Amino acid sequence: MTPALDPVHAMRPGLLQLTSLPPLSLYVHLPWCLKKCPYCDFNSHAWREPGQSLPVQEAYVDALLADLQASLPLVWGRTVHTVFLGGGTPSLFAPEVIDRLIGSLRSMLRLAADAEITLEANPGTFEKDRFRAFHQAGITRLSIGVQSFNDQHLQALGRVHDRAQAMAAVDEAAQVFDTFNLDLMYALPGQTLAQLSDDVDAALSFAPPHLSIYHLTIEPNTAFAKQPPSLPEDDEAYAMMDTITERTALAGLGRYEVSAYARPGHACAHNLNYWQFGDYLGIGAGAHSKLSFAHRIVRQVRYREPQLYMRQALQAEPVTLHEEVARQDLPFEFMLNALRLKEGFALGDYMERTGLALSSIQRGLEQAEAQGLIARDWTRAWPTERGFDFLSDLQALFLPAGPKA
Ligand SMILES: C[S@@+](CC[C@H](N)C(=O)[O-])C[C@H]1O[C@@H](n2cnc3c(N)ncnc32)[C@H](O)[C@@H]1O
Ligand code: SF4
Repeated sequence: MTPALDPVHAMRPGLLQLTSLPPLSLYVHLPWCLKKCPYCDFNSHAWREPGQSLPVQEAYVDALLADLQASLPLVWGRTVHTVFLGGGTPSLFAPEVIDRLIGSLRSMLRLAADAEITLEANPGTFEKDRFRAFHQAGITRLSIGVQSFNDQHLQALGRVHDRAQAMAAVDEAAQVFDTFNLDLMYALPGQTLAQLSDDVDAALSFAPPHLSIYHLTIEPNTAFAKQPPSLPEDDEAYAMMDTITERTALAGLGRYEVSAYARPGHACAHNLNYWQFGDYLGIGAGAHSKLSFAHRIVRQVRYREPQLYMRQALQAEPVTLHEEVARQDLPFEFMLNALRLKEGFALGDYMERTGLALSSIQRGLEQAEAQGLIARDWTRAWPTERGFDFLSDLQALFLPAGPKA
């Protein structure tokens, strides 16, 4: 057995003492899209024959299940609370194939009875017509990548859908799912404040239970990085953020995380688990995992290129990178996640999930408080509004000081 998936190796003595293990989630990466978007640096690969079904989908699910089988000893006996099928464009997979995947996950893992099972979908007509079948296959929550309702901006983003298709897809999702999410991006090439307002209003007209709104970033190694489009100035982008916060609040959506807004009871349980420094097993091409054991926290990355991943998974060797999180990196890793949440974190959870004493963040907390970036009481610490606005400065206060041990 490869050491990366060997439970005995993971449970050997070490420096940390975790008194209990955090909740566990499962992430499943499905790495194909109809076309690569010029701003996207996710592990997604263009599917070159639009209109045809993905011939590799059955084989890919076989590889995912082989990956899971090989990885099970690392999470033995633990309940899985949420599942997220992300990509890429998971809605390119046929509902029958998703049904087989979910059925197999249920038989191999102990899934909580009320487990949230999210699928990311693109708003094309072809995908929309499958929403009901995805629901029947066991998907409880749909996340639709709308990005914008403006045809001009959708084109500038290289998207394959238009406004009419986006509207029809959201309408269908609202009829089929009790809970769903729309992804929007703002500060788009050539976007004005008025156009951003129109996008937010169009999204809110569906009374969505959840909205994720991301500032478009230019990522290295993307087509936009090579040929940067002209983007709104910083001041304009701040004004857009203010509009987003105002409009969503008026519509009854609370900003519970930097980019996430939800009606009460509709926060994304899967993402919350990431932000609360919970554990996740990630299977599929390029998927990341974070897993806790009594004496260590490990991170793993799976082979990124889909064909190579499939070969490796079938040989029970899907992991290309496996490392233990260094003790001195844990405060920053925890804060990178927890300070994204409006409600911050319980001090007890910090100790439970990192295995460290509160003294390890005492200095950072004091500095952050003195700069007005966090507030705290005896049990919790949370970012102030200013902390949200200067989040990377706040997180940087928890970076390790010296060289690694
Ligand atoms: C993993 S992507 C996949 C979702 C789906 N394939 C889609 O694009 O519609 C999840 C979300 O990340 C956001 N995203 C991707 N690249 C981004 C970028 N460069 N800047 C900001 N948000 C980005 C988009 O809103 C996207 O819907
Ligand atoms: S459809 Fe989504 S995952 Fe695929 S390339 Fe575009 S942004 Fe990336």
